[in-house]
Amino acid sequence: ELEISLRPKTFDEYIGQESVKENLRIFVKAALMRKEPLDHVLLYGPPGLGKTTLAFIIAKEMGVNIRITSGPAIERPGDLAAILTGLGEGDILFIDEIHRLHPSVEEVLYPAMEDFCLDIVIGKGPAAKSIRLNLKPFTLIGATTKAGMLTSPLRDRFGVRCHLEFYKKEELMLIIKRAAEILGVIIDVEAAEKIAECSRGTPRIANRLLRRIRDFAQVKAKGIITREVAEEGLKLLNVDSKGLDQEDRRLLLTIIERFKGGPVGIEALASALNEEVSTIEDIYEPYLLKEGFIIRTARGRMAAEKAYEHLGIKRD
Ligand code: ADE
Repeated sequence: ELEISLRPKTFDEYIGQESVKENLRIFVKAALMRKEPLDHVLLYGPPGLGKTTLAFIIAKEMGVNIRITSGPAIERPGDLAAILTGLGEGDILFIDEIHRLHPSVEEVLYPAMEDFCLDIVIGKGPAAKSIRLNLKPFTLIGATTKAGMLTSPLRDRFGVRCHLEFYKKEELMLIIKRAAEILGVIIDVEAAEKIAECSRGTPRIANRLLRRIRDFAQVKAKGIITREVAEEGLKLLNVDSKGLDQEDRRLLLTIIERFKGGPVGIEALASALNEEVSTIEDIYEPYLLKEGFIIRTARGRMAAEKAYEHLGIKRD
């Protein structure tokens, strides 16, 4: 990676998610005291809130290796078997988008999680035999945007389940301040506040905006991010006062103008936007719902009064 990493490396460096962090600290400490691997951990919540970062931190604090993969990347049971047999004692396997595991792969994962073993079928038909292969004890860390999309046998096998939440403005300001220091750029408190307000409660967005605004500052403002520089940068990036970008506004406008404000079904909305249903559900909707720009009803999504106000559209 050419870019300077802004990822915190330890729990002490990690800002926010206080209760998740405190719980994980205790579970890690207890596992270390018992000289046992950590129980399997499920991290769930909207994208960009630090699930991968937490997995790296847990690995570092446990003093073990971490192997990173994702649900869709594991195509066949054999792929998972290869990964599992390659893990060292106590190592961590991180599976992002774990809700997208193929059912046949999930089957292999159950005994691996529960008893640290693999059931391998050799041969075909009546001559087929099943042999059991022992694995070294390991920790699975699964990440998903929606825990509701996991099958219950899989969900039930995670001893630790942590729900990540959108960050508060004050936490994002601290994250921005820390990142600015790492990037070597000076930033005013009001500028940090402005960027925090436009980051949709999400550190990944805060850090992306900071990098781009730092570019503006370097080229146009002697490397110092003042409130004016931040405001100018956000405008050029097409991010509005509520942190909504072009895509968010396009979604709201589509509900209002093409579907008369809704309710509109998610499939119809996705097709009008030329997006995947899951992109809308996982990426755009969580923040728009949380901030009250849209409402979810049994008959579909509706634009809320706040959306009309924000876009300056009169309701007819
Ligand atoms: N960078 C991204 N997420 C962060 C967090 N939670 N704490 C500190 N720095 C971060």
